[in-house]
Amino acid sequence: MLRCMANNRTLTMIKPDAIAQGNVGPIIKKITNSGFKIVALKLTQLSPERAAEFYAVHKGKKFYEELVTFMISGPVIAAVLEKKNAVDDFRALIGTTVDAAQGTIRNLYASSVTKNAIHGSDSNENAVIESEFYFNKDEIIDY
Ligand code: CMP
Repeated sequence: MLRCMANNRTLTMIKPDAIAQGNVGPIIKKITNSGFKIVALKLTQLSPERAAEFYAVHKGKKFYEELVTFMISGPVIAAVLEKKNAVDDFRALIGTTVDAAQGTIRNLYASSVTKNAIHGSDSNENAVIESEFYFNKDEIIDY
């Protein structure tokens, strides 16, 4: 297991829509201005198999095929973020999947329920699993 993941790290993906629309800079600025430290970061293209693996929990749901097609439509930026209470604080910063609150990242940059600009882990356990999906131990910086 990755070090120091107890409750102070989360995994985010800036999704293909946000990258295509040129929103990476403002999104990262909002993240770092909100007190999150970037401890790992990469731009990468998901294959259909990797996208299916990441979203395996949603297989069979009616939005699953659209979700995987969208997530492989262009590169994503994956990052591990560090802050006390990272998972909950980051989910508050990005807003909910549907009807994200005013001023949240999804409220500002999502174009639909599927094309919702950004992902945040939904639990500390999934933060570890998702961080290990994208990063090796030596790719995560301990400041
Ligand atoms: P994310 O937080 O990455 O987790 C699952 C993704 O499925 C979600 O963001 C959306 O991109 C997508 N999605 C599409 N429709 C729905 C829905 N009705 N409920 C939840 N997620 C959805």
